[in-house]
Amino acid sequence: MSYRNVSKEALVGSVTLGVVFVAGYFLGKKKSIRMSISKSHAGGKDDPLIQYVLNNSLREHPVLKKLRLRTMEDSWNIMMVACEQSQFMANLAKLIQAKKALEIGVYTGYNTLNMALSLPEDGVVIACDISEDYTNIGKPFWKEAGVEHKIDLRIQPASKTLDDLLSSGQAETFDFAFIDADKCSYDDYFEKSLQLLRKGGIIAIDNVLWGGRVVNPAPDDADTVAIDKLNKKLHRDTRITLSMLTVGDGLTLAVKL
Ligand SMILES: C[S@@+](CC[C@H](N)C(=O)[O-])C[C@H]1O[C@@H](n2cnc3c(N)ncnc32)[C@H](O)[C@@H]1O
Ligand SMILES: *[C@@H]1O[C@H](CO)[C@@H](O)[C@H](O)[C@H]1NC(C)=O
Repeated sequence: MSYRNVSKEALVGSVTLGVVFVAGYFLGKKKSIRMSISKSHAGGKDDPLIQYVLNNSLREHPVLKKLRLRTMEDSWNIMMVACEQSQFMANLAKLIQAKKALEIGVYTGYNTLNMALSLPEDGVVIACDISEDYTNIGKPFWKEAGVEHKIDLRIQPASKTLDDLLSSGQAETFDFAFIDADKCSYDDYFEKSLQLLRKGGIIAIDNVLWGGRVVNPAPDDADTVAIDKLNKKLHRDTRITLSMLTVGDGLTLAVKL
């Protein structure tokens, strides 16, 4: 799993140190690169502006809050989506009146639950993960929130689930996809999600800045190289409109044309 390729100390270190500046030279002038993840529960935890944003905009369903607090007890909580980012994506899903969503990388299912709460009664989230351990943490909360019937969890490699959906004739039927699993497969997830999406559907891709490492990828760092390659490919991709946001660890939004 991708986050395990990075040493945990390195990952947690880069987060808890907050904003670490790496000096570099561009055009002969000294510039600094932000090398942190500004998630409200991680690198941005002590940032008063992020606190202000949460204090004045977070509208968290009580069961979502419970799941977030439960997930914070897990040692891999750095993987959890930031609540402010999840709320943004839930708003986007509502904006396009999404009914069918893909969650590629569930972990404890914070975003899965938020999506399920945002979809209409007959909506569905196809939730893809390979870990029973992580997803089992979330399941009781999905039930408590009364939306477990909208969550179709498939425990197998996400590529296989996407192939299954395509071969069962579900191309062009999804409205929203959130790509947030192993980084080396991002391109595959993007291509398959694009086929599964209807025109006007949105693909949101997480971690596109990868803690700042994309600016100068080490050639032997497969995750960073994969993310950077996809970022550059999407820039030229005429099948989509594109935005890259600096929220959290970087979030790309691609709308299918
Ligand atoms: C960053 S976490 C997802 C966070 C989640 N979106 C949230 O709302 O908190 C990444 C997840 O991807 C899963 N994963 C890793 N490799 C995978 C694969 N090949 N197929 C599906 N899931 C995978 C991991 O088990 C982990 O739970
Ligand atoms: C956010 O709210 C908390 C709790 O009410 C408060 O202690 C903190 O000062 C607030 N921070 C900002 C920046 O608004």
